[in-house]
Amino acid sequence: MSTQKIALVTGANKGLGFAICRQFGQKGFTVLLGARDTKRGQAAAAELVQQGLDVRFLHIDMEDPATFETACACIRQEFGGRLDVLVNNAGIALDWGYKADSVPMEMLRRTFETNFFGLIDLTQRLLPFILRSPAGRIVNHSSVLGSLSLHSNPEAGLEQMKAFAYNASKTALNAFTIHLAQALQDTAVKVNSAHPGDVQTDANKHGQITVTDGAKTAVRLAMLPADGPTGGCFHLDKSLPW
Ligand SMILES: NC(=O)c1ccc[n+]([C@@H]2O[C@H](COP(=O)([O-])OP(=O)(O)OC[C@H]3O[C@@H](n4cnc5c(N)ncnc54)[C@H](OP(=O)(O)O)[C@@H]3O)[C@@H](O)[C@H]2O)c1
Repeated sequence: MSTQKIALVTGANKGLGFAICRQFGQKGFTVLLGARDTKRGQAAAAELVQQGLDVRFLHIDMEDPATFETACACIRQEFGGRLDVLVNNAGIALDWGYKADSVPMEMLRRTFETNFFGLIDLTQRLLPFILRSPAGRIVNHSSVLGSLSLHSNPEAGLEQMKAFAYNASKTALNAFTIHLAQALQDTAVKVNSAHPGDVQTDANKHGQITVTDGAKTAVRLAMLPADGPTGGCFHLDKSLPW
């Protein structure tokens, strides 16, 4: 079995996921670039291959569990059933402008399907492969907007950021991080939430930092040493409040 590290990043055809793939590739990983759209995913992978990186497209749609099975079959057949890093990056934010008193149920359900239920389903299916790694790492791309401590503090400056579906999906994701880290405490696997910063992407046109800088937190958590933390939420090396 190859000793080269294998990393899977979901929602990686653009934005932060793409930048994370590039940084893994530059560090010598074999990168599985997950995307829901085959054309966009293949084009993104080809761009990184052009730069000399070992990157392959993997079809993963967070709303379609059949694609999770195909991804598992690919890892089993082509990579000996081992995965070193999973970055759960794919995410949607549909409900800017809606607060908890008005967010349409369909928007709430769809957001949780992608950002929470699909993510847990995929992670559970990949777990046997991650447990086969000597240093498995799971990074959940969360957000400071999932923090209940900050939302309940009127001084925290989040009044303009109350998109309930998105925020609550990231709070729930943080709960998954804590519970999964505890469930895996007797293994080598580490599970952490990452806040990338205020990053300029299609999802955040007014972001203040580049995707290259925004990718750094997830990449750092994916490469934590054996004595590194698990079950936390971080931006760069700073621990954030739940
Ligand atoms: N940007 C920020 O400031 C910021 C801050 C905090 C947290 N985050 C988190 O970072 C992650 C990446 O965000 P981003 O800013 O890079 O957003 P982005 O540019 O909109 O990229 C989101 C990615 O997720 C994919 N995606 C959406 N729904 C999917 C599905 N059902 N299945 C598979 N992939 C799907 C998109 O694919 P398509 O191209 O096909 O739509 C795209 O590749 C998200 O989880 C977000 O919540 C971002």
